[in-house]
Amino acid sequence: MFKAIPDNPNAANKYIKSDGNMLSQIYGSADVTSYWIADMEFPIASPITEAMQQLVHRETYSYEFDSETVFKEIALWNKNRHNLTLDPKQFVQVPGVLSAIALLIREFTEKGDGVLIQTPVYHQFRRLIESAGRVTVSNPLAIEKGRYVMDFKAFENQLRDGNVKMVLLCNPHNPVGRVWSKDELEKMVAIAKKHQTLIVSDEVHGDIVFDGAEFSSIASFDYENTIAIIGSPAKNFGLNSISNGYIYSENNELKEAIKSTVASMSLDHGNAYVPEPC
Ligand SMILES: Cc1ncc(COP(=O)(O)O)c(C=O)c1O
Repeated sequence: MFKAIPDNPNAANKYIKSDGNMLSQIYGSADVTSYWIADMEFPIASPITEAMQQLVHRETYSYEFDSETVFKEIALWNKNRHNLTLDPKQFVQVPGVLSAIALLIREFTEKGDGVLIQTPVYHQFRRLIESAGRVTVSNPLAIEKGRYVMDFKAFENQLRDGNVKMVLLCNPHNPVGRVWSKDELEKMVAIAKKHQTLIVSDEVHGDIVFDGAEFSSIASFDYENTIAIIGSPAKNFGLNSISNGYIYSENNELKEAIKSTVASMSLDHGNAYVPEPC
């Protein structure tokens, strides 16, 4: 169905994953295989290319981000795709998922606080936690009958311990590929609720699941609104280098705190876009 992007040395060698110069800058050697880069190997969908072409032909990139329209569209997408009801007013615009996580760590935890991650997990989580002076609390995934599962017993003990102020969930999980089930998330939410610990859920891969798997957003669970979800079109639509993302929380207090920090750093003006591509 999809045709992979042909190996084009002129274009492809400018990507981090294959450019010796850039790999050397990161690793000190070009002789590495960049398995960690989640780039698409397929061309993006043609309506996106057409919308981009319209932008280019306009020959202007003015300030224009219309968050109300964009968030209505994201809510509609989630309704159609995941039967998830989201309120367009509860979104906050951010430059991307990692910057959002960095901001949420700083906003809702203090230096020295624990942030729990379920290892093995996307390597940048640890970097964001520790570069903010927080402590990584590792809750390793277990393997049962050949697949990764959460270790709820250890999870509860770690939350009971008291230093964990935030759970950084990865759903679907990179790199183990689990789409956490409703039951698993329910259990996690019940424990977090009991210990009043904030769950921040990175759902950037939420639309990319195998047939038969069902993605459940953390926003569909009832947890006194202390839950945020974060996503972006980077993975779903192959737009990794177009800086864009959003945070969602039904807790107004939480949402307003995030919104005012984002605004105070002028991180909220978004990209040029085509409201109604023709
Ligand atoms: C789980 C996860 N979160 C976030 C990102 C990066 O998101 P962004 O580019 O929007 O910061 C990646 C990229 O691979 C990822 O795998």
